[in-house]
Amino acid sequence: EKVVLAYSGGLDTTAIIPWLKETYNYDVICCCVDCGQGEELDGLEERALYSGASKLYIEDITDDFCENYIMPCVQADAVYENKYLLGTSMARPGIAAKLVEIARKENAVAICHGATGKGNDQIRFELGIKALAPDLKIIAPWRDDKWQMDSRDAEIEYCKAHDIHLPFSVDNSYSRDRNLWHISHEGLELEDPACEPNYDHLLVLGVSPEKAPDEPEYLTMTFEAGVPKTINGEEMKVADIIRKLNELGGKHGIGIVDIVENRVVGMKSRGVYETPGGTILMEAHRQLEELVLDRDTMAVKKDMGNKLAQVVYEGKWFTPLREAIQAFVESTQKYVTGEVKFKLYKGNIIKAGTTSPYSLYSETLASFTTGDQYDHHDAEGFITLFGLPLKVRAMRMQELEKN
Ligand code: ARG
Ligand code: SIN
Repeated sequence: EKVVLAYSGGLDTTAIIPWLKETYNYDVICCCVDCGQGEELDGLEERALYSGASKLYIEDITDDFCENYIMPCVQADAVYENKYLLGTSMARPGIAAKLVEIARKENAVAICHGATGKGNDQIRFELGIKALAPDLKIIAPWRDDKWQMDSRDAEIEYCKAHDIHLPFSVDNSYSRDRNLWHISHEGLELEDPACEPNYDHLLVLGVSPEKAPDEPEYLTMTFEAGVPKTINGEEMKVADIIRKLNELGGKHGIGIVDIVENRVVGMKSRGVYETPGGTILMEAHRQLEELVLDRDTMAVKKDMGNKLAQVVYEGKWFTPLREAIQAFVESTQKYVTGEVKFKLYKGNIIKAGTTSPYSLYSETLASFTTGDQYDHHDAEGFITLFGLPLKVRAMRMQELEKN
C-alpha cells in the first residue's frame, strides 16, 4: 500500500521515509509542494530516493497559491490578531489539496505530514485532507506512539542505522516556514517574550528598519477590481508583483512583525514574521478601498475580514463559511480600481497619492472653503435628531439627581 508524504528534504521528513517503511510497511511516495519558498530543489529527488522513497513529485503551486489563497485574503484584509498576515495558514490548504491530488493519482491509502502535535499546521493539513478526501488515512509521526525520536540527534542516528548517510548538520536554528508570501520564525530566544529578537541573526527576506537606506523610494501600483496589475508602470502577474514587492519591502525594512499569538491548540506562542511584499500589497489595496467603498459596506467588510482571518488560521479553508465570506468580499471588489503611490522609508509605507475613476471622495463636499451641495443649516436638524437619545437620557439623570 502507498502513502503520500509531504516532503521538504529536511531531516524530519527524511527520517520519516524509513520510519514509514519499517513501521507500516508502506511504499512511500514523496511530494514536495513548492509555494514559492525560493529554496533550491536540486538534489531533492536524489535525496528522497536514496532515503527509500519510490518516487518524488515536485509540484509548483505558486500561481494557484497567489490567485486562490493569497488574493482572497488580501481582498478581505484578513489579519489574525491584528498583526499576522497568515502566510503559513493560507498555504496549508493549497498543499493539502495537492497531496490529495497525488494520493488519488497514485491510489494511495494514506497521507503523512511532519507537523508536530503542538501546533496549528497539523490542524490545517488534516482539516484540508478530511474535507477533500474523508476516506484517506492520516499519519502524523510526531503524535504516533511508535515514533521514538525526540531530538535531531536521534533522527540522524536513526537515518544512519538505516544506512542513510546524509550531510545533516546538528543545526540549531529557528523553526521556520517560508513561501512566496512570508517567512515565519519561532523558537530559540523568541520562546521568551522578554527577549528582544536577534534580528541580525534572524531576518531572511530583508533588513531591519535601522539598516534600511537613508533615501526613501517611491512606488506606484495599479489595481483592477481588487487585483494588482502593475508596479511602476510594468504589467506583471500577481506572483511576480509579490516577488518585486518582497524585494522592495525587504530592502526598506517593511513588514516585520513580532507577536505573541493564540494557537488553536490553546497555548500562546511567540513568533516573528517577515512579510515585506504582502504588507505593501495589503496597504495599497486598503488605501484604494478607502476611496471607493461606501461606509456601510466597509464596516461589514471589516467584520468579514476578521472572521476570515479566524477561519483561515483555524484551517477551515474548505468550508461553506469560507466560500460565503469570499463571495461577499468578491462582490465588494468591482470598483477597487485605480492607482496608489507610496514612499517606502525605514519600515514605513507613506502615502503619496491615490486615484480612482470610482472614487467616492468629493472635494467640493469635503472642502472647508467651497461648495453648494452641502447646506450647513441641514447639520443643525440632523444633530438634533442624532443626539436626541443621549439628550433625553442626560435630562432624566439631571431630574433623578435633584430628587
Ligand atoms: N504560528 C504560525 C501559524 O500558525 C506559523 C507556523 C509556522 N509553521 C512551521 N511549521 N514552522 O500560522
Ligand atoms: C509545528 O508545530 O509543526 C509548527 C508550528 C505550528 O504548526 O503552529
